[in-house]
Amino acid sequence: SVKSVILVGGAQKGTRFRPLSLQSPKPLFPIAGVPLIEHHIDQLCQLPNLTEIYLLGFYPAEEFTNFIKDCKSKFNVPIQYLEESGSLGTAGGLLKFENILLQNNPKGIFVLNADVCGDLPVAEMVVELDSQPHAQCLILTTEATREQSINFGSVVVDENGKVLHYVDKPTTFVSTHISCGIYLLRPEIWKVLSKEIRNGGIVQSLWFESDIFPKMASIGSLHAFHTTRWWSQTKTAAAALYANRHYLRLYRERHPERLCSKGAKIEGDVFIDPSATVHPTAVLGPNVSIGGGVRIGAGVRIRESIVLPDCILEEHSCILHSVIGWRSTVGTWARVEGTPIAPNPNIPFAKLDNKPLFNADGRLNPSLTILGSDVHVSNEQIILNSVVLPYKDLSASYKNQIIL
Ligand code: GDD
Ligand code: GTP
Repeated sequence: SVKSVILVGGAQKGTRFRPLSLQSPKPLFPIAGVPLIEHHIDQLCQLPNLTEIYLLGFYPAEEFTNFIKDCKSKFNVPIQYLEESGSLGTAGGLLKFENILLQNNPKGIFVLNADVCGDLPVAEMVVELDSQPHAQCLILTTEATREQSINFGSVVVDENGKVLHYVDKPTTFVSTHISCGIYLLRPEIWKVLSKEIRNGGIVQSLWFESDIFPKMASIGSLHAFHTTRWWSQTKTAAAALYANRHYLRLYRERHPERLCSKGAKIEGDVFIDPSATVHPTAVLGPNVSIGGGVRIGAGVRIRESIVLPDCILEEHSCILHSVIGWRSTVGTWARVEGTPIAPNPNIPFAKLDNKPLFNADGRLNPSLTILGSDVHVSNEQIILNSVVLPYKDLSASYKNQIIL
């Protein structure tokens, strides 16, 4: 059997995702209508012999209770939250919960970073591990540009897929093959982990990226599995919009029932939660996700955007390249617009840039517009390339600003 662990991290993480991570843990941020990590779970559940999924992190367990309850009704695989008392790193928690994770002798354990997205070849990785008896761990890799590769785990691989070197976030270029933050481990790895760390029986923090993988590479027990399918990080809100577009595209093949074709005028891929109400004259799409309880008035135009649950978009408002936070309202004829961000299509293997909020001369980098939760935009105002913190009433127009 196979088990799986999703590393959800904790509240100190996900700072680049603010203000959207102020309301709920980043791993639960809705993309294409479902929480980010539900996409991981959905893909893992395609594995026929998956017996268990664990969410491992240092958020208080209550934050995941409702999500886990929801998943129970959707998936046949049991899901459990394992709580670290504080950050134990990417591998420390796995050691702490060794007894639970290795119970019933799984032949492989997937470990997935929560903050990635993609069309993950999990079934192919299981097959590959079977054909690599000397590999203790398979690490999913993809191609990046030379410039971008240094922001990831860099992996040097021989012609048989054996990892020769692993360097996390190197200071100078090492390899265009980068780690996707998705691993398939054999149970034997836990012996390696416990050798590293058990200090009077107390587990301290331990990282695959700096403590384990470089050593495994030097003894040849780490193997790479390369993918050319869609993969990206989800560190920023711009990345969430990018992921939204791709998960909607995957719905076309895997969950066509989630894509909407009736109600409003629909262009391209659009998800509308069944509890949302959309006026038939509104025009939505492409790449739009509408959360539960949202109300959309006549003549509204939405494109390349995520509208979170319980928002109200009044008549003829226009939402382009934006994320609209929980319970926000946008008045009639108001316009909320951002600047699209996508990987450079002219550079092969380019990934989404995690651009800093401000550029070198201190000005805001134009990006999507984000309304935090409970923001109210008055009628006829224009909010352009701005980040708005929760609970703001905007009765004027704003451009290229962070509204605190
Ligand atoms: N349970 C737990 N405990 N999870 C953690 C902890 C911890 O103490 N610290 C981080 N995580 C989780 C995060 O939630 C995230 O899902 C994952 O571990 C990795 O997070 P980071 O440590 O922030 O690393 P990164 O995202 O910058 O880089 C990692 O991912 C890249 C791919 O996206 C590295 O593994 C890189 O090598 C890799 O290329
Ligand atoms: P890009 O290819 O992303 O540059 O889009 P575009 O050149 O088609 O135009 P833009 O992004 O400005 O607008 C996207 C869609 O929204 C178009 O279909 C427009 O017709 C529509 N649109 C733009 N502004 C408004 C508006 O103020 N009200 C309404 N109802 N629709 C608008």
